[in-house]
Amino acid sequence: MASSAPAKAPMGKRVVRAALETLLASENAQYSARRPRSSARASRHAKGGFAGGVPMHWMRDWPQPFPMVIEAAQGNRLRDIDGNEIVDFCLGDTGAMFGHAPAPVMQAMRQQESRGLTYMLPSADADRVGELLQERFGLPCWQVAVTASDANRFALRAARAATGRKRILVFDGCYHGTAEDTLVDLIDGKTVARRSLLGQVQDPSLTTVMIPFNDRGALEAELAKNDIACVIAEPVMTNCGMILPQEGFWAFLREATRKVGTLLLLDETHTISTGPGGYGRAHNLDFDLFVLGKPVAGGLPAAVWGMTQAVNDRLFASRPESEHGHSGIGTTLAGNALQLACMRATLEELMTPANYEKMLSGAARLDAGIQELIAHHGLAWHTARVGARLEVVFSPAPVTNAAEARAVADATLESVLHVALLNRGFLLTPFHNMMLVSPDTTEANITDFLAAFGDVLNLLPLEAAQ
Ligand SMILES: Cc1ncc(COP(=O)(O)O)c(C=O)c1O
Repeated sequence: MASSAPAKAPMGKRVVRAALETLLASENAQYSARRPRSSARASRHAKGGFAGGVPMHWMRDWPQPFPMVIEAAQGNRLRDIDGNEIVDFCLGDTGAMFGHAPAPVMQAMRQQESRGLTYMLPSADADRVGELLQERFGLPCWQVAVTASDANRFALRAARAATGRKRILVFDGCYHGTAEDTLVDLIDGKTVARRSLLGQVQDPSLTTVMIPFNDRGALEAELAKNDIACVIAEPVMTNCGMILPQEGFWAFLREATRKVGTLLLLDETHTISTGPGGYGRAHNLDFDLFVLGKPVAGGLPAAVWGMTQAVNDRLFASRPESEHGHSGIGTTLAGNALQLACMRATLEELMTPANYEKMLSGAARLDAGIQELIAHHGLAWHTARVGARLEVVFSPAPVTNAAEARAVADATLESVLHVALLNRGFLLTPFHNMMLVSPDTTEANITDFLAAFGDVLNLLPLEAAQ
């Protein structure tokens, strides 16, 4: 199984709020004291070209008081400019899932030195990469993009062109990158433009409907309108805590979409943690379109999207014979030679069964160790896992949709875990408690992490629940 059922927790202890704030302040102070140079850079850069000293504004949104500036990264380790060594369980939020600067990709980059980087023409690697994608993910027709956001944007455009329909359906709590059509929220049962958007002019809720994950009734009701071009979904939701599909949900989703001519787009950008063919292959899912970004070129910006022959044929048939030029799909650097060389190295030498075996067995050990600690401390938490990706959820039972996930989320508690573990040398993914195990993660890293996790749980101010 690529995903584990959440652990049963005993009657839970409760975290004492005021004392938790004090603990966070103390951990934040320790973090800052160890990073005078990162701290100075953050304030110096604030006056310079990058607001807040960061080249991309989300880098300010991590839970620690200011971002640590990274000097070097190799395998599953980071070193910041203050000399702090960190074992990385975030791995660039999946971009470096197969390790930082992986040898096969670095080798491919060196070989590309004498061949050029981008020509807006296919490189010699193109055929092989296309074949690898076909074999790996089971779809015949592929295109390359620079980011998963772009790949989703293009795949949705393809779905609309192929079906001649406008509307798409997404699940509450989803994140598919900056693909505008997916940036909605579900508020009091109504789909609205995501409230955090900047500069949004078109109202995405006019052509996108959002429903709760695992909700068969809501799905049937929307599909019955016969106007949905595409359902886009992660097979396991990983951007709102971790929400596993209920037994039979994906079979139901496939059957229901097929009945009404709606296409199904699987976004495996995170769930590629399941195995070399993603969650879809591991669980025998059937789908019409597929997206994978982030780690597909070993950390170099690249993404792929694939489609069935039928979608490909309908997509291009939808275009007047004489029209060339701007299709709204593709960008100048998409499919460039460096991307293809790095993708080939990643598919052939990193996304291997042997590497996944290491990642999955490490993640299973991490999962079991965390579950034991949760039980030992009497916390009403559980873990959810999809292959090499693991999440600690602050509820005793699995959550089945985003509303339930939000109800148990606790930003202060997440920050405490994040900063306290960082102070002990371990980096989690920000915004929730997600961990990824890479092929470079050692047994010792996991043992040490579990010891640190136990230390942090010991620090939590707990009282018996009423
Ligand atoms: C499932 C999923 N799809 C797409 C994306 C977008 O990836 P990118 O930011 O690389 O475009 C993300 C980013 O977190 C994601 O989680």
